[in-house]
Amino acid sequence: MGLTATEPFSLVVFGGSGHLAKMKLYPSLYVLALKNRLPKDYAVIGFARTEMSDAEFRALVEESIRTAFSEVTQKALTEFLDHVRYVSGEYDQQSSFEELRKQIERLEGKSSDWVRMMYLSVPPSVFSPILKNVCVAKIHDPKRAFRCIIEKPVGHDAASAEALIGELTGCFKEEDVFMLDHYLGKEAVRNIYYLRYANPILERLFKNTLIHHVEITAHESAGIENRAGYFEQAGALRDMLQSHLLLIMALLTMRLEGDEDFRFARLNALEQIYLPPAPDLRGIILQGQYEGYTKEEGVAKNSRVNTYCALQLLSRTSRWQGVPFFLRTGKRLNKKETRISVLFQEPHKVGPGATPNRLDIILQGEAGMRLYLQTKVGGTEPQFRSLLLEDPLVCYGDCLPEHALLLLEAIHGKQQWFLSHGEVRAAWRIIDPLQVHLSQPSTPLHLYTSGSNGPAEADAWIGKHGTQWMN
Ligand code: BG6
Repeated sequence: MGLTATEPFSLVVFGGSGHLAKMKLYPSLYVLALKNRLPKDYAVIGFARTEMSDAEFRALVEESIRTAFSEVTQKALTEFLDHVRYVSGEYDQQSSFEELRKQIERLEGKSSDWVRMMYLSVPPSVFSPILKNVCVAKIHDPKRAFRCIIEKPVGHDAASAEALIGELTGCFKEEDVFMLDHYLGKEAVRNIYYLRYANPILERLFKNTLIHHVEITAHESAGIENRAGYFEQAGALRDMLQSHLLLIMALLTMRLEGDEDFRFARLNALEQIYLPPAPDLRGIILQGQYEGYTKEEGVAKNSRVNTYCALQLLSRTSRWQGVPFFLRTGKRLNKKETRISVLFQEPHKVGPGATPNRLDIILQGEAGMRLYLQTKVGGTEPQFRSLLLEDPLVCYGDCLPEHALLLLEAIHGKQQWFLSHGEVRAAWRIIDPLQVHLSQPSTPLHLYTSGSNGPAEADAWIGKHGTQWMN
């Protein structure tokens, strides 16, 4: 059996009736219960403002699980729900947190070996009072195992991220803080690193003398899904590029280190990303917005928030120097697809039909790998075609949903696949100047049709960089 939680734990979910908790956390916890990955003693405590009984909250949790899965095993579900409790309270009231602490103590009994976990599944605007009250109400006890989990984006820009890190470290030790980017819980994303690690032949090809450019695409068919309040503040650059896509680039460009230095190597790769001075940003980024975005509920009628972004970045590492990375993401596009395409240098002039070698790593959509080689077709004249080596990235065994895997690792105190403070800072160092540039009224915002491939200008833009998207 793979990683299993053996220590008893109490998990408080702040924002217990919210979108993230219902969409991701409860279904993930159910999967862990179903796969016998949870200990005998544990408690999941929802905390939110709405008054609710334990029974009403369990009904909400059950509904979220039934919505997530077409088939549910009743025994596992009932057993899981037995561990679920609810506390209602105000995020800015110490008395609510004292009540919460008493409930946690009742559930934990006299034992001091329970791991206490706080999951902030709430908008960043309430992080601050929650963190303060967890500390002053002594829910956090420095003598016992403790985890504070927060989801990306950590802050809104470098300054707010720094303030948040300050609040976190003001109360907790760095090893107690788990900054979660769910992309780092995806098997296929982790596999970027392991593909390089386990395949020296591939790893030797990953260098600037052989690679022409790399494309990282994260297209979504969904729109903003009732999250206007958040998205209007964030936009696609902060929402998707700031963490998810930069981390994919880091996993491709980082040094292959052992477990010990893994996070440091990932940080180093982020720090090596080069951003030109402000006047030159114009050429490396392009933004778009889907038609109809400003008619979405909660969106300002004159909103200039981007729902599409394309960006060209370079790494300063000697191995990758000069290789452009084209990152793009957008909402309401023609399909959901997350893909890396590594384009190798142009082949020698071998003959008609030959195209550059290419490696596609498809992370979402029909996840898999495709390597395009060139082969001569039979005949007296040299004529070539692509030979496609293709395999789906199937899950043979111990696959878990991303939040389930990350929760298990957090229970164990394993931080390798969580963001370090340095990584958060490094990502904002890249994003902040770009965001300033995009927010200027003079920066164009290109409209695109829902269900398309993004703005037509993005094709012309990459064309100016001497290549094209692999659509
Ligand atoms: C989240 C973003 O981090 O990632 C969402 O806030 C986005 O806007 C989502 O839709 C995409 O995640 P996934 O796992 O569906 O690719």
